[in-house]
Amino acid sequence: MQWDQVWIDVNVATMNDDIGCAYGAIEDAAIAIKDNSIAWIGPKADLPEFDALATPVHRGRGKWITPGLIDAHTHLVFAGNRANEFEMRLQGASYEDIALAGGGIISTVKACREAEEAELFDSARKRLNALAKEGVTTVEIKSGYGLDCETELKMLRVARELGKHHHVDVQTTFLGAHAIPPEFKHDADAYVDIVINDMLPKVIEQNLADAVDVFCEGIAFNLEQTEKVLTAAKQAGLKIKLHAEQLSNIGGSEMAASLGAKSVDHIEFLDEQGVKAISNSGTCAVLLPGAFYFLRETQLPPIDLLRQYQVPMVVASDFNPGSSPLCSTQLMLNMACTLFRLTPEEALKGVTCNAAKALGIEDTVGQIKVGMQADFCLWDIITPAQLAYSYGVNPCLSVVKAGKIINQ
Ligand code: NIG
Ligand code: FE
Repeated sequence: MQWDQVWIDVNVATMNDDIGCAYGAIEDAAIAIKDNSIAWIGPKADLPEFDALATPVHRGRGKWITPGLIDAHTHLVFAGNRANEFEMRLQGASYEDIALAGGGIISTVKACREAEEAELFDSARKRLNALAKEGVTTVEIKSGYGLDCETELKMLRVARELGKHHHVDVQTTFLGAHAIPPEFKHDADAYVDIVINDMLPKVIEQNLADAVDVFCEGIAFNLEQTEKVLTAAKQAGLKIKLHAEQLSNIGGSEMAASLGAKSVDHIEFLDEQGVKAISNSGTCAVLLPGAFYFLRETQLPPIDLLRQYQVPMVVASDFNPGSSPLCSTQLMLNMACTLFRLTPEEALKGVTCNAAKALGIEDTVGQIKVGMQADFCLWDIITPAQLAYSYGVNPCLSVVKAGKIINQ
């Protein structure tokens, strides 16, 4: 066998369901890499003979390997911060009160419109570095703090550039319909027309987005407006997803499911009918415990129903300056278990195989399986549950991205 590198003395949480045990685990395993992909994975005892003199062999000293982590929902590109709103909320103002008074998303919009592209890039790169150090190898980044054509395109360019200059793969999402901009305060429909007829064609022409998202909520876009944007995006061949049922239930998830959305995100207020709808359409449920925690929400997402209807559950950071200024995918593993009662295995699926599904990239990443890209992490842990159990001392020892060992 001719391989580019081999890993031995490792336990591997492949996250491949076909293996038929928790975490798709293979203890005392070996992994062989060829041309950036997994060429062989299995028990070390079964490893075919290979030229050990010509092949770099890495030893994991009995530690665990998992697929590289995937953060499937972030707003990583933004300017400024909203610590003042945090203080206001601690005095009793609600997230909705602040948004309705012209703060919230709109205050970050003001900062982003003023920010130079280079400034946005530099701050976002620091955040991406923080995620990467924790083992993230793929991240989704949304626009949505521009709300005018120029700034939305600027945000997406920054996100695309990050992907080109960083080992972490970046999937970009156009979220022009994130909030109603002040200029259209009394005519949201007119803004929706601009999103569809002015912004979206430019986003597509400049190949700036892999997907389109909308914030469907009482304080943002109604069902009809949301459907228009998602339908236009779908017709243009983009993947679609939705911020839905975060603060109330207005049926966004069901509508998004009927259009074949990859995911519905937040979904604290999703009911059984909505869960059935997303289950039937193969739509993933993206759980965002950071926003639930930071906004001190009390309505829990319908975890038992999601399990009952076998909806793939995803866990993401939703990193953003307003509702989740928590730049840590690892922290989300812990929060998904403590706050939402996911099992550590469910949580880990949420940042690996299921996160890949939510982004529509499950054929390439999210599992350790022959033919998939060789994206994985070596962790200083003796059982995979430790990834969700403890937080604060980063157990990430090594990251391999597309077969390349990353020094960070
Ligand atoms: O995912 N819910 C809408 N959007 C973001 C919050 C954005 C903000 O407050 O800046 C979220 O929570
Ligand atoms: Fe979000």
